[in-house]
Amino acid sequence: SANAMWGGRFQMSPAEIMQEINASIGFDKRLAPQDIRGSKAHAQMLAEAGIITKADAREIAKGLDQIQAEIDTGTFEFSVALEDVHMNVESRLKTLIGAAAGRLHTARSRNDQVATDFRLYVRDAVDGIDEALERVQQALAEKAEVHAATVMPGFTHLQPAQPVTFGHHLLAYVEMIARDRGRFADARKRLNECPLGSAALAGTSFPIDRKKTAEALGFDRPMANSLDGVSDRDFALETLAAATITAVHFSRLAEEIVIWMTPQFGFVKLSDRFTTGSSIMPQKRNPDAAELARAKVGRIAAAFQSLAMVMKGLPLAYSKDMQEDKETTFDALASLRLVMAAMAGMIGDLEPAPEVMRAAAGRGYSTATDLADWLVRELKMPFRDAHHVTGAIVKAAETKGVDLDKLPLADMQAIEPKITKAVFSVLSVENSVKSRTSYGGTAPQNVLKMARQWLRRLEKD
Ligand code: ARG
Repeated sequence: SANAMWGGRFQMSPAEIMQEINASIGFDKRLAPQDIRGSKAHAQMLAEAGIITKADAREIAKGLDQIQAEIDTGTFEFSVALEDVHMNVESRLKTLIGAAAGRLHTARSRNDQVATDFRLYVRDAVDGIDEALERVQQALAEKAEVHAATVMPGFTHLQPAQPVTFGHHLLAYVEMIARDRGRFADARKRLNECPLGSAALAGTSFPIDRKKTAEALGFDRPMANSLDGVSDRDFALETLAAATITAVHFSRLAEEIVIWMTPQFGFVKLSDRFTTGSSIMPQKRNPDAAELARAKVGRIAAAFQSLAMVMKGLPLAYSKDMQEDKETTFDALASLRLVMAAMAGMIGDLEPAPEVMRAAAGRGYSTATDLADWLVRELKMPFRDAHHVTGAIVKAAETKGVDLDKLPLADMQAIEPKITKAVFSVLSVENSVKSRTSYGGTAPQNVLKMARQWLRRLEKD
């Protein structure tokens, strides 16, 4: 007959282009392990419910195990004519065990089958992402502990603003990643309901036990509505949204590494392990891994956009449009995996140059706020007046071509006679960061405490 699965009604084979546009096996073959897990749970449940015999269920499980082994060893032959992973597996099962294979699809449709497979895949990916993100946090917190007191310029508008410490800067990313992990964990909770047993869209007349299959596959419960079970892909959208935000965070850190590595900044060095040379310019050392980590956010955000556009306006329940959910999601999750691993590696590899950072921190009148704060504290000046006086002092220093802490006291007193030499204590970058003891501030003692807190917390996770 024209088709092994629905040949009863069909006489002609599909047009070549029909087969080509319809086939998903090229990308959904990576769902084979999830498909096999799902089928084993389904067959087991069917037998326990008395819908198929125990002997058939045993044959099915044995056959499926062999198929998994064939896939693992690379001997399994995927066929485009069989359209997708579900039919490839079932067809092979028929060859292996004969008639019993035909009973596996009782009380099931490819619609709830693919929804289950894809959920399992995304759930596995989310678990892997959480571990990888934890490794990045670990690398950041370890560096932060070492550099809790390493002074560097803090920027706003990429202009020198106030001195901070390198450890403080790195811990900012640890916090961001903690929220990223929270978003994935939250998505996982909502994702973890089982669509299997929704059948094509309406449920089934067979006495299936959906709680049993849900539990066997590690889901918290079966999904409560069969139409919903086969038609939504919000779990993938939510995961891709979390992935996009995570990738945005990494692209910012990657960009900072690129900037810090320029000879103009010279704040950090990456070793040969994380840089590349140029085929023409012998002096070059390029941060390609950071650049690619910065760029990958493009395809990850695009995957979210792509799936949102596929899903919008789709009537319930299943439409073949939804086959387009997988390729971009697979690519986005694989890309994020690369980014996380590369970032963890680079952070460990990163060697800061404390002298360069410290010198840069002192340039650009970065302790001007400290001077204004001193005027408020010691001379009881209103902050707005202090801001004005400090501006005039910065201008005087600029005219003289010196940093604030090198401007003679007399020059300051010419602007504000009540200033005393005690002011110099707040003009050094070290004292500036030391003074920022407010909760969440950059004082080295704060940073050290936070870094250690994170390291303890990460160890316990
Ligand atoms: N390959 C299909 C997909 O990925 C499986 C579900 C097919 N269901 C159907 N009714 N044609 O969505």
